[in-house]
Amino acid sequence: MIAVQNLVKTFHDKARGSRHVVDDVSFEVREREIFGLLGPNGAGKTTTLRLIATLLKPDSGTAVINGFDINREPEKVRSQLGFLSGDMGLYGRLSPREILTFYGRLFGMGEAEIGRRSEELIERFAMKEFAGVRTDKLSTGMKQKTAIARTMLHNPPVLILDEPTSGLDVPTARTIEESILEFRKAGKTVLFSTHVMEEAEYLCDRIAVIHEGKIKITGTMDELRAATGRHRLREIFLDLLGLPVLTEN
Ligand SMILES: Nc1ncnc2c1ncn2[C@@H]1O[C@H](COP(=O)(O)OP(=O)(O)O)[C@@H](O)[C@H]1O
Ligand SMILES: [Mg+2]
Repeated sequence: MIAVQNLVKTFHDKARGSRHVVDDVSFEVREREIFGLLGPNGAGKTTTLRLIATLLKPDSGTAVINGFDINREPEKVRSQLGFLSGDMGLYGRLSPREILTFYGRLFGMGEAEIGRRSEELIERFAMKEFAGVRTDKLSTGMKQKTAIARTMLHNPPVLILDEPTSGLDVPTARTIEESILEFRKAGKTVLFSTHVMEEAEYLCDRIAVIHEGKIKITGTMDELRAATGRHRLREIFLDLLGLPVLTEN
């Protein structure tokens, strides 16, 4: 469903010079799979997801999403995707319901369909109570629910979520995690990034660990265990980063 092939992205800045932030990254996400891109801060997760979502152009390499190439057919790629960015990017003066309507029109959906889909999502994410309130008056969790609902409004086959539960309390994170599991049940393919071990372990069919722009390993939990001789994801992760593993009991 998603084939990422040798993606390279270089950033230049005065302080750090020129660096490969995404350094020959390849992996495949299969249809109806929940795939986690796991890495520490600064590993290159956001940049990788932005390249796949066509918000950035790669220096070299490509990704093919549901048959469409990011370099050759970026618009087609975008039609296949719902993308949740880390910063949410909501308009503070609009309410969740207005935001859904705005994006529905942007996606070219009809008014009746926008209404139906919006109410469905407002119901699903338990947003009824605040769906009419300006988003700049909402809590982080409410904003995140709004951003996720917006991501899936046009019912795309592929969802790309950049740290969807970052900064959320446990009950809100759980709602988001449940919806990720539901996406899979509904036949969707999910690629998401996280630095939370439990979340990756709990949700993912397969995981890729990224560090300093490079993929260190890709596989199911069992494959990661077999390759590293470690049991818990935290230990596998630290091991792959070359850090000492503190083991209790
Ligand atoms: N626009 C940019 N210009 C320069 N450096 C950037 C830019 N965006 C990200 N970076 C750098 O690229 C590296 C990877 O960033 P990012 O992809 O955001 O990592 P992650 O999402 O895993 O935390 C970091 O060192 C970050 O500072
Ligand atoms: Mg990031």
